[in-house]
Amino acid sequence: MKPFLTVENLQVSYPTRDGRVFALAGVDLALSPGETVGLVGESGCGKSTLGKAVMRLIPSTGGRININGNDITHLGRKALLPYRADIQMMFQDPQGSLNPRQSVGKSIGRPLEVAGWTGAAIRWRVGELLEMVGLPAAAASRYPHELSGGQRQRIGIARALILEPKVIICDEPVSALDVSVRAQVINLMRDIQQRTGVAYLFISHDLSVVEYIADRLLVMYLGRIVESGPTRQVWAKPAHPYTFALLAAAPVADPRAARGRNLLTGELPSPISPPPGCPFHTRCPRAGERCRVERPPLRGGGDQRQVACHFPLFDVDATQLPPPAL
Ligand SMILES: Nc1ncnc2c1ncn2[C@@H]1O[C@H](COP(=O)(O)OP(=O)(O)OP(=O)(O)O)[C@@H](O)[C@H]1O
Ligand SMILES: [Mg+2]
Repeated sequence: MKPFLTVENLQVSYPTRDGRVFALAGVDLALSPGETVGLVGESGCGKSTLGKAVMRLIPSTGGRININGNDITHLGRKALLPYRADIQMMFQDPQGSLNPRQSVGKSIGRPLEVAGWTGAAIRWRVGELLEMVGLPAAAASRYPHELSGGQRQRIGIARALILEPKVIICDEPVSALDVSVRAQVINLMRDIQQRTGVAYLFISHDLSVVEYIADRLLVMYLGRIVESGPTRQVWAKPAHPYTFALLAAAPVADPRAARGRNLLTGELPSPISPPPGCPFHTRCPRAGERCRVERPPLRGGGDQRQVACHFPLFDVDATQLPPPAL
């Protein structure tokens, strides 16, 4: 299916007292209706920055953002308005974005109010959404502090859905929830996707959640995508040594899998002065001289897979590898 959202070579840098932080160093992304793309990587690699830049909440310093084929990268406030509804965002803790003095019904319905809807119509639509996220219509009159974390995140979903977006950028949407509630919210998100065809960019540092929900996976390191591909394939056979180390650290239920090991020991380099060559070479057990001087481009490895590595693990059974000493 034709992608609804495409991002080309997107760059974001933040000016700071210590110099420019290159948070996004040229990222490509395509998101089609009804699909979920998982975005993973260590803290500080640029995941939220990508989400915020796509939402046009922060300015990008290079590259393009296209919605339905229209370049929205530099549209002003007014020109951007028709596209605002198409992409919505969900955060880790919706409490932070819900007004504590406003009933949740009012918070959910606010975008409709802005769009000129009135009383009864708003109440009807809010009720419809509450039902969709598995809450009783009476929840509309409750206040955020009266709800559990899981219920609040259901409100977060309802609010993200109210304008019938094509894409929802979900930034760690279940990371603050208990494991059992997490599963319920994830399943709800999947149901809603099947009913509405909404696409998710699902940001998480929890690989097991992403493995469950994402059709495709993007692995990010220091502001760049270093590996991408169908989730199952990447999960079964990571090609980038960084992905391998991330997956090795992910706790899994299967005791046969040699996981739960922390291979990512070396320090994450500063995005103010990223290493020359391959950004991962300072922590990579497979790095050779070439990796220190020449940055590997993200390129195809067959089966819709891409990896930015001079010595990818495509031909190696990762589960049989000895733990690299990072
Ligand atoms: N407003 C800002 N000003 C300066 N630097 C920033 C700003 N926001 C983020 N950064 C820096 O940009 C880089 C990417 O940050 P970002 O929040 O996108 O990472 P992340 O992958 O979402 O991390 P986490 O998993 O912790 O949420 C980090 O080095 C961060 O310190
Ligand atoms: Mg973040």
